[in-house]
Amino acid sequence: KGKISIGLCGLGTVGTGVIKILQNHQEEIKYKLGCELEVKKILVHTLEKARDIEVNAGVLTTEPDDLVRDQEIDIIIEVMGGIDSTYELLEKALQHKKHIITANKDLMAVYGQKLHKIAKTNDCDIFYEASVAGGIPILRSLTDGLASDRIQKMMGIVNGTTNYILTKMTDEQRTFTDVLQEAQELGYAESDPAADVGGLDAARKMALLANLAFKMDIHLEDVAVAGITSISQEDIVFAKRLGYVVKLIGIASMEEGKVEVSVEPTLLPQDHPLALVKNEYNAVYVHGEAVGETMFYGPGAGSMPTATSVVSDLMEAVKNIRLGISGNSYITPQFKTKLKNDSE
Ligand code: NDP
Ligand code: HSE
Repeated sequence: KGKISIGLCGLGTVGTGVIKILQNHQEEIKYKLGCELEVKKILVHTLEKARDIEVNAGVLTTEPDDLVRDQEIDIIIEVMGGIDSTYELLEKALQHKKHIITANKDLMAVYGQKLHKIAKTNDCDIFYEASVAGGIPILRSLTDGLASDRIQKMMGIVNGTTNYILTKMTDEQRTFTDVLQEAQELGYAESDPAADVGGLDAARKMALLANLAFKMDIHLEDVAVAGITSISQEDIVFAKRLGYVVKLIGIASMEEGKVEVSVEPTLLPQDHPLALVKNEYNAVYVHGEAVGETMFYGPGAGSMPTATSVVSDLMEAVKNIRLGISGNSYITPQFKTKLKNDSE
């Protein structure tokens, strides 16, 4: 195919970044893929809304079927959020043989395995690199870069909004509410920030990481979660006086076949590598049996970093289409076996 057509669901913080990268890096992308990419339709909630970027009239729609049923569209990028109704849209898209790219950890934490199964049945791919730690290619690092190792433990900061809030409360003595509002304006927070500050967003990401790293089927209910809403300015000042900083830390460990995953506010010594991760940045420390300690660091939220992961996934999906293959390394071997057994 000389041209691959894309349906984009969502033109907010991340969707706008996706369009900008496709426009600004058009030449490099075309050179690497050997074909052109066209965003044929964009699904939005409100047609009349003022946008940061120019899009041709007729491209925007509020009707999901305009993307899902369009036979020329090969790939759906989902960056609109939502769980149940978004699942229905993506299920339908897979049944119409569209490959899926998503940044939606809420959806993947709940429906990931179900979607993988439908994708497999329809010879399609699902990529979701952007759903964990925004611009850090952590899923690929776990499944490809560290494929030969046995991962034993991961510990990290995987929510940009709470790290931004805790950083500003610590370094600038600002209030929780004031900084949360700023994180929302900067596009880091979820549309309902309760999932960020309550730790649920980080819990979903830790579950996704643990499933890939340990080849398990961990559910959100298995993750012990506490957020940062009960952390006061006094707690932060007191910790600082003792040489500590407060960070929202996710931990996933595998010991003797038993996996434990948790997210909670944690006191770290001021010189701990994770204590030095500031603002919306994320970091994931990974301990592998052979490699020892590695740490992945970068922007965990925001338009362009997140869109970078989305477009890289898009490029991998396009390569698969051009090679006539399907399947990606994010699917765990254990899950592959399960799929095989289920289909027999
Ligand atoms: P925004 O709220 O900025 O944008 C959402 C977009 O989706 C808007 O364009 C909105 O339309 C559209 N939309 C929402 N619901 C519907 C619907 N029911 N039907 C049609 N269109 C709809 O969200 P973000 O870009 O911040 O986030 C998108 C996804 O990416 C989420 O799943 C989020 O968790 C994930 N993510 C976000 C990151 C970030 O830093 N922001 C980082 C990593 C992942 P309209 O413009 O008309 O309102
Ligand atoms: N709300 C999320 C965060 C966006 O703050 O980390 C990135 O997943």
